[in-house]
Amino acid sequence: DRGADAPQDLAGRKVVVSAGGTREYLDPVRFLGNRSSGLQGYALARTAAARGAHVTLVSANVSLDAPAGVSVVHVETTEELREAVLAATATADAVVMAAAPADFRPDSVSDAKIKKAEDGSAPSIGLVQNPDILAEISRDRARDGAVVVGFAAETGDVSGSVLDLARAKLARKGCDLLVVNDVSGGAVFGSADNEAVILGADGSAVEVPRGTKAALAQVIWDEVARRFVD
Ligand code: CTP
Ligand code: CA
Repeated sequence: DRGADAPQDLAGRKVVVSAGGTREYLDPVRFLGNRSSGLQGYALARTAAARGAHVTLVSANVSLDAPAGVSVVHVETTEELREAVLAATATADAVVMAAAPADFRPDSVSDAKIKKAEDGSAPSIGLVQNPDILAEISRDRARDGAVVVGFAAETGDVSGSVLDLARAKLARKGCDLLVVNDVSGGAVFGSADNEAVILGADGSAVEVPRGTKAALAQVIWDEVARRFVD
């Protein structure tokens, strides 16, 4: 960590980071969720603040302490995450989507707690797709020059290698940078360490060796800072 003597290269910059995993409610007490710990997003927020940025951290269902000097907005659902990220992005120099929004939500939310049927039958849950926040931000840049960063955890499959799938995802999303984790050897969820390749829409690829999430965060901000135009 660069700690107290961090370069102040993000001074005067406004950045938005999302972290954690969203919850999609079935009824007042039940939800569909995922295992995102929020560690990478919190590391990004902490390191950006240490480098002088004004940081808004949109945090979904994370049990971590707020980093010093960071404004935290708490959300639960993907729709709340979307609203908070879009609002903060309107004036931002960079947006990093480290959160794991649920891809689907139940097609209806019961106002009352769903009760078990006497006959032992179970309800079916219909799902609809959630909006793609990263694609939306990339498409409607609030102002020219905002740098947009996404994350992708890929295993590779019959249709392509991890990097093939990631390149396709980068193009589909329309972001400037995509931080790619190869999770074929096991999940990174909740782990202190991370290793990644940072792909750029300009064709660049920066390999970041296994290390802490703070170390990866520093390289991500280096790549973002290089792309600021003013
Ligand atoms: N993302 C988003 N909104 C969603 C889903 C994902 O903004 N509804 C963002 C994530 O925060 C991440 C990036 O998109 O930065 C890639 O997420 P990923 O789950 O890999 O992408 P998907 O398009 O959902 O593709 P997949 O089918 O592989 O899950
Ligand atoms: Ca997804």
